[in-house]
Amino acid sequence: MGLLQEKLAKYNLPQQFMAKGVYPYFREIEGKQGTEVEMGGHKVLMFGSNAYTGLTGDERVIEAGINAMHKYGSGCAGSRFLNGTLDLHVQLEKELAAFVGKDEALCFSTGFTVNSGVISCLTDRNDYIICDDRDHASIVDGRRLSFSQQLKYKHNDMADLEKQLQKCNPDSVKLIVVDGVFSMEGDLANLPEIVRLKHKYNATIMVDEAHGLGVFGKQGRGVCDHFGLTDEIDLIMGTFSKSLASIGGFIAADESIINWLRHNARTYIFSASNTPAATAAALEALHIIQNEPERLEALWEATNYALKCFREAGFEIGATESPIIPLYVRDTDKTFMVTKLAFDEGVFINPVIPPACAPQDTLVRVALMATHTKEQIDSAVEKLTKAFKTLDIL
Ligand SMILES: Cc1ncc(COP(=O)(O)O)c(C=O)c1O
Repeated sequence: MGLLQEKLAKYNLPQQFMAKGVYPYFREIEGKQGTEVEMGGHKVLMFGSNAYTGLTGDERVIEAGINAMHKYGSGCAGSRFLNGTLDLHVQLEKELAAFVGKDEALCFSTGFTVNSGVISCLTDRNDYIICDDRDHASIVDGRRLSFSQQLKYKHNDMADLEKQLQKCNPDSVKLIVVDGVFSMEGDLANLPEIVRLKHKYNATIMVDEAHGLGVFGKQGRGVCDHFGLTDEIDLIMGTFSKSLASIGGFIAADESIINWLRHNARTYIFSASNTPAATAAALEALHIIQNEPERLEALWEATNYALKCFREAGFEIGATESPIIPLYVRDTDKTFMVTKLAFDEGVFINPVIPPACAPQDTLVRVALMATHTKEQIDSAVEKLTKAFKTLDIL
């Protein structure tokens, strides 16, 4: 056995959970991802998806993907920089920029590569990147790839953010990067206060709208729009893998920032462009969310109903204000066990353990879609209550 294999063979945490019968990952779904999914021949209620708008199985989105595949083929065989730019990419960029209220946008192949590529290349050694300590892993990796000085503040703690800003050289760039909606806890970044601090310390703000797009703001334009602060936010990032029912991501900003990114973001230049089918599907989903306001209304009706039901049933759900509802367990073993019990009862939810949260904050994450019915929510609350009570969490 080589040294590497010898070292890695000691890693057996997954096997320990498999032996206990509670390993919750890589569960196979055998069809489209709606509010019910087929798994092992059984129907399971899906409360673990990020498809907030419920469009992943929409015939119009699927049709758009198929048509694009017929017209442009299955792949672009190159980076956007060279032979991989389609008129379709450019159209989507224009429409996304207009949608989120910025001059221009660039599309990347995933949301992860937007954050890792953008955050790593904007600032230099003398500058600062300042992050909330619950920011998404892709933001953390972008920060780590940068040569800039790196600062973190406690989650949504504005006094701590100000303390970090005070440490910075006033003449250097200070890039604050935050999730607009925190992906595991469902709470919102305090953008009004962050904007106030931006002005006080001459900083720059980038907001990750992965979970804000299609959910908050007019027509689902995001959290920046929700707070009426679009013009104050320098860079807006989004993904297609959630409300836009596809895969890919984008960054939107003013012309000078986009010009820099277009020629310097390594995950944009040195990675193949997004497939025609994925691009067309995202574009169609973008049209649908703008033309069907009832979808956003349905999402909020389901969300508010679920929030009320979980609160009334006595769950600890933290400070969420979104379709992401954390049910705190605060114990890793029990988090896996309750996920398994819920699954056996027919409810798919996701366990959240370190490093996605602090060890004392483990939870199961429930996420709503516009297409969930009240009956499905009632059923999930009832089954989850039973599972939580079985394990003495509730
Ligand atoms: C806040 C946030 N940013 C970025 C990403 C990465 O997006 P994608 O999965 O589309 O690559 C995610 C995905 O989970 C996310 O939750």
